[in-house]
Amino acid sequence: MDKIEVNINMTCYPMPCMLIGTMVGEKANFMTVAYFSQVSLKPPYILAALDKEHYTNAGIKETGAFSINIPSTSMAEVTDYCGLVSGKKFDKSTVFEVFYGKEGKAPMIVECPYNLECKLVQIIDLAGDELFIGEIVAAYSDDRYLTDGIPDMAKVDPLLLSVPQMAYLSVGPQVGRAFEMGKSRIKKG
Ligand SMILES: Cc1cc2nc3c(=O)[nH]c(=O)nc-3n(C[C@H](O)[C@H](O)[C@H](O)COP(=O)(O)O)c2cc1C
Repeated sequence: MDKIEVNINMTCYPMPCMLIGTMVGEKANFMTVAYFSQVSLKPPYILAALDKEHYTNAGIKETGAFSINIPSTSMAEVTDYCGLVSGKKFDKSTVFEVFYGKEGKAPMIVECPYNLECKLVQIIDLAGDELFIGEIVAAYSDDRYLTDGIPDMAKVDPLLLSVPQMAYLSVGPQVGRAFEMGKSRIKKG
């Protein structure tokens, strides 16, 4: 075996980036997050890991709501900006055009191809981070990002973060059908 031990903190897979939106006081604030994932389909729960120091955390606790906004690669610069500066010092409320969904509590970004409106379910205290678990109450997109009514990743063109290189990447071509390709290996009878 030719394996060598490498840095444990170099998350080895590209992570989609998102902008988490929340109201802090009277103003919308947006921060960039890569450490997030949907953790349950029914109910549709999504989890985001936020450092305790961030301005966003106070807004989520205050309102019980947040949004997840998926930027496309064309939004790489503004996404990076929202991950470099804190709402504690910079007013990020006018960086994007904002809309509100059915609950009306979490600001969402018009420019992003895909938006999730979330209701706070639970906060888990984890060392330096707080894990925010939210229930997705609604999802929004634009017709131009859909194929047969479903968000099409080739059209959404989500922005990915590669931690080892500290670089932004885009999604490559489809390699096959999930829950299909492996069927040829299932022995019959
Ligand atoms: C690409 C990228 C990904 C990031 N991912 C996370 C993350 O998953 N969790 C986190 O706590 N901070 C993350 N950050 C850092 C925050 O976005 C950054 O500290 C931000 O300024 C916090 O904003 P706020 O204080 O207005 O809430 C990321 C930054 C960048 C540029």
